[in-house]
Amino acid sequence: MSTETAIRLTVNGEGRTVSVPPMRRLLDVLREDLHLTGTKEGCGEGECGSCSVRMNGELVNSCLVPVLQAEGTTIETVEGLAHDGVLHPLQQAFLQCGGAQCGICTPGMLMAAKHLLAHNPQPSIAEIREGLAGNLCRCTGFMRIFESVLSAATSIAGTSQQETHAR
Ligand code: FES
Ligand code: FES
Repeated sequence: MSTETAIRLTVNGEGRTVSVPPMRRLLDVLREDLHLTGTKEGCGEGECGSCSVRMNGELVNSCLVPVLQAEGTTIETVEGLAHDGVLHPLQQAFLQCGGAQCGICTPGMLMAAKHLLAHNPQPSIAEIREGLAGNLCRCTGFMRIFESVLSAATSIAGTSQQETHAR
């Protein structure tokens, strides 16, 4: 018999409480208890990055995080990227540059890319390659993913320049 514990989280800006066994994986809580199925399971062993989410601003493999460890944290998942029906520039760029094929790695790639751009808004291809090194893709050969991130960084930089000039 497993004892359930109430765990409070903020997920994509919304306060959520779940009653689950404390060692349940954050991945399962997101997908099965909160019905946020955007986050994908690839290996289930911390090797592929498909399950990447941001927890208190750090990139984590949610298949390795017991939900107890996530108590009181702020979680960002792929569902939090688009706003008011408008795709995030990273999502736009993945679409336009062919950065997604089967899509299994894509949510994790997007979260890893978001994390990278939060720390390095204008990365080189080499820095993108390094930033996404924990995320595996079996379909694209990676170059299109790296180009998508580069394109998104350029588009975000262009938008912020326009905003600065508009002020
Ligand atoms: Fe979590 Fe592969 S499913 S790292
Ligand atoms: Fe299929 Fe990356 S698009 S694993």
